[in-house]
Parts: sequence; C-alpha cells; structure tokens
Amino acid sequence: MIVAIDGPSAAGKGTLAKRLARHFDLAHLDSGGLYRAVGLKLLRAGQDPADEALALAAARSLRPAELSDPALREEATGKAASIVAAMGPVRQALLDFQRAFARTPPDGKAGAVIDGRDIGTVVCPEAEAKLFVTASDEVRARRRSEELQGRGEIAIYARVLKDMRERDARDSQRSVAPLVAAEDAFVLDTSDLDADEAFAAALEVINQKIG
Ligand code: DC
Repeated sequence: MIVAIDGPSAAGKGTLAKRLARHFDLAHLDSGGLYRAVGLKLLRAGQDPADEALALAAARSLRPAELSDPALREEATGKAASIVAAMGPVRQALLDFQRAFARTPPDGKAGAVIDGRDIGTVVCPEAEAKLFVTASDEVRARRRSEELQGRGEIAIYARVLKDMRERDARDSQRSVAPLVAAEDAFVLDTSDLDADEAFAAALEVINQKIG
C-alpha cells in the first residue's frame, strides 16, 4: 500500500505523513530530504547549487547518513534544494531510490507513506491513496516562522512569506515534475485545521480509498 502526500512547503505534509505511517504501520519517506541532501552537499563543498553537473554528481553520490543531517532543515538548505529540484537529471537520479523504497519498503513494512511534490503524479502514480495537502500562503508562512523560531533561528514573518512564495513559484513553474495535484488526489486544505483535525480528515479519505 502506497500513500502519496504532495503539496507546497509548510502545509503540514511531513507531520501528517509521519502520523499516517505510524497509524498504518508503514514506512515513511520524506522525499524533500533527498533534494535537501543534494543542496546541502553542494553548499558544504562551497559549490553553486545552480551548477547542474555538480548537482548531478552530488545526487549520484548521496549516502544514507547524509539524509539525517540536522542542517537539512535549515532555510538555506531548502533554497538550494528547490534549485537542484528543478533539474531533470537530478530528479531522474533520485527517482530510482524513491521507487525502490516504494517497491521494497525498509524493515519489511507492507507499504509506505511518501511525501513530496510529485509522488502522486510521477514517482508513484499507482498509489492507492493520494492527498494534496495545502494551506493559504499566510498560514504556511506563520507555521514556518514558528517552526524556525522554535529551533532558535531568527525568522521574520514577511521575509519567510517572501522566500516561501519564491520557492513555491520555482517548484510549481519548473518544466519537470512541477508541483501540481494529481487528478485523482484528494485536496486537503489545512488552513483552518490543527494537526489532529488534519490527521482525522486524512484518515477518513484513506480509509474510504482502501476500505
Ligand atoms: O518538502 P521540502 O521543503 O523538504 O522540499 C525541499 C525542496 O525539494 C522543495 O523546494 C521542493 C523539492 N521537492 C521536489 O521537487 N520533489 C519532491 N518530491 C520533494 C521535494
């Protein structure tokens, strides 16, 4: 069983995906982490994330340990991730890993919950359940600001909103695998929902699909 969860940044996909994976005893893959790891690798090496040849080399040489670096969550890493994520060859290099995870989830799990931007459209178009999780720009920027402040980072709301819109535009307007809801995805707007309410709504949709 594959559950695909797509949507823009800070819409609540990650929290929801983790909780759903626990509930259904499935593996969880945060596919954004792969793009972040490529971005971080380039930044650490003092390389330009816009250099496609270097980005591709970084994607091809990713090691599992690089997927759990705390610096993956930093804003600068997110920006670099969104730049490398617009490159077709980089996406292709990361596609095999994601499909293999879906086909053979770790720890003998019977399936996976995968969150990202193109899971329901490109990576796992055959997923049993697809959710497109979204929320208004303002709500997402407020959540992201609070998340950053919670980690002790300086976050100015107006700046976070501007950066987020820039990144969403890049993710939505790129020619390869742009951020778009799959035709058969259920659109879940979490603007007025807290985490528990979003989870309950998602559960209802998935149970209907698989029930
Ligand atoms: O969800 P996130 O913020 O960790 O994602 C980081 C970047 O990676 C984001 O700009 C979009 C990109 N991404 C993507 O293009 N496709 C995915 N399946 C997941 C993330």
